[in-house]
Amino acid sequence: MNRQIICALDTPHLDEAISIVNRLKSHVGAFKIGHALTLPYGLDIIDRLKDAGASRIFLDLKFHDIPNSVALAVAEAAKRGVWMMTLHISGGPAMMTAAVEEARSAGDELRPLLVGVSVLTSLDQRVLTDHLGVSRSIEEHMVHLSKLAMEFDLDGVVCSAQEVKPIREAIGPRGVIVTPGIRLPNTDSHDQKRFGEASVAIEHGADYLVIGRALTGSPDVVKTLEQFKLSLV
Ligand code: C5P
Repeated sequence: MNRQIICALDTPHLDEAISIVNRLKSHVGAFKIGHALTLPYGLDIIDRLKDAGASRIFLDLKFHDIPNSVALAVAEAAKRGVWMMTLHISGGPAMMTAAVEEARSAGDELRPLLVGVSVLTSLDQRVLTDHLGVSRSIEEHMVHLSKLAMEFDLDGVVCSAQEVKPIREAIGPRGVIVTPGIRLPNTDSHDQKRFGEASVAIEHGADYLVIGRALTGSPDVVKTLEQFKLSLV
C-alpha cells in the first residue's frame, strides 16, 4: 500500500469504477471522484465505493460559487464522510472562510480536508496570459493563490509537479500539497499541459499524487501501479 497515491476514477460507469477499486484498494491510499460519477449517481456513489472497499474518498468537484452555496455543498459532502475535497481559491476569501467554517462544524471525525485549486494543470502560460488576462507567470500566480489559500485556513493546495518546489517553499511545511498530472517518463500526457513524474513531485515536497488515465487506462492496473511506485524510490 502506498498511501501517497490517489487513484482518479474518471469514468461515468459504476461497474468500471468498482472494478478498479477492487483491484487497487489494497495498493493506494484513496480514490478520487468528480463530476463523471457524481452526476449520474449522486453522492450515494461514495457509499457504493466504500462498500467496495475504498477506505478514503477524495471528492474533486472544484467548488467555485458564492460563499453560501459553497458552504452548503461542503456540508453535504462532509455528511457523507468525504476525506478530502477541492474548491477554487479564486472564489475568494469569503468563500474559503465559509467552506472552512462548514468543514470544521462537521466535527473532528467527519471534518474533510479542504484543498485549493489555483491554475488547472491543463492550462499553460499562453492561455493564462492571452485568454485569461493574467500577466504574472504561472508559478508566480500559483504561489500567490496558494499563500492566500493558507492564509484563509485551507488545509492545502493542488499543483502540478512543476510548481511543487516554489509552492512548498512559499507555504512552508504545514499545508498539504496534492499533485495531479503524474506520468511515467515518455508516455501520453493526454490533455495535461503541466505534467511531471511522481519522484520529482515527492522530492520537491508533494504529499499526495493523483494518478488517473496513466493507471486506469492500462491493461494491468496493479502492474502499472508498481511502475509508479518504483519511480518513487
Ligand atoms: O488522467 P489524469 O492523471 O491526467 O487525471 C488527473 C486528475 O486530476 C483528473 O481527475 C483531474 O480532474 C484532476 N485534476 C487535475 N488538475 C488539477 C486539479 C485536478 O488534473 N489542477
